[in-house]
Amino acid sequence: MSSSAPVGFFDSGIGGVTVLKEAIRLLPNENYIFFSDSKNNPYGDKSDGEIIARSKEITRFLINEKHCKAIVIACNTASAKAAKSLRAEFSKIPIAAIEPAYKVVHDARPTGATLIMATKGTIKSEKFRRLYYSYYDHHTSIHSCPGLADLIENGSSDEVLDYLKKTLAPYKGKVQNVVLGCTHYPLAKKEIAAVLGNVDFFDGAPGIAKRLKYLLQKNDILNGGTAGNTEFIDSAEDEEIRKAKAARFYDILKR
Ligand code: DGL
Repeated sequence: MSSSAPVGFFDSGIGGVTVLKEAIRLLPNENYIFFSDSKNNPYGDKSDGEIIARSKEITRFLINEKHCKAIVIACNTASAKAAKSLRAEFSKIPIAAIEPAYKVVHDARPTGATLIMATKGTIKSEKFRRLYYSYYDHHTSIHSCPGLADLIENGSSDEVLDYLKKTLAPYKGKVQNVVLGCTHYPLAKKEIAAVLGNVDFFDGAPGIAKRLKYLLQKNDILNGGTAGNTEFIDSAEDEEIRKAKAARFYDILKR
């Protein structure tokens, strides 16, 4: 496998750009391909079988058609449900899977209470339960946010704020640490802070970027060349939707 081959990222939409940004910060010489599955989003309410089938199809495409040397599952829901199956089927390719940054909160020895926000699919998964019980050592609330990733994906800040006002109001003044357990949620930090006030955010992106670097080093496929580039692919059938997604993706990537 050539070290200049791209690293393939995927998510149900453009949310995983928050993960890609961290990877580019840490590994600027790599080439990247980001696959946004907006034709099939949201993933949060889909069955395990549907998520596994979709994740396999995308990974197969990234490896066989795009010749990716490593895969990053830039979606907490797909990581929770499909990482194991992907590693079993594509055992020769390093696969990094994101998880909600609850261990990071635990390691920071927090004084205040914690709120974990994630999709229903992530929260109900076995992988999340294991994570939660491994690091549960202080007051923690878990809140599933059905539909929130979709609103963020569609890009209306007012709708996101309305949703958050309705659902997060009971936590105002009661939590200090907020785990952004869906890769779309870092795009709504401003709106979450508008409802919850001055909280500390934790997301899994820096952790998975470090994990990717470790896997590339271990497999001796780190790219030593000059600055890499990023290709964006979206699964929507409508060309206008694909163009709009790409424009927003590159806009967020530049910021
Ligand atoms: N961005 C995804 C996650 O991290 C999925 C959101 C969705 O499609 O429901 O869970």
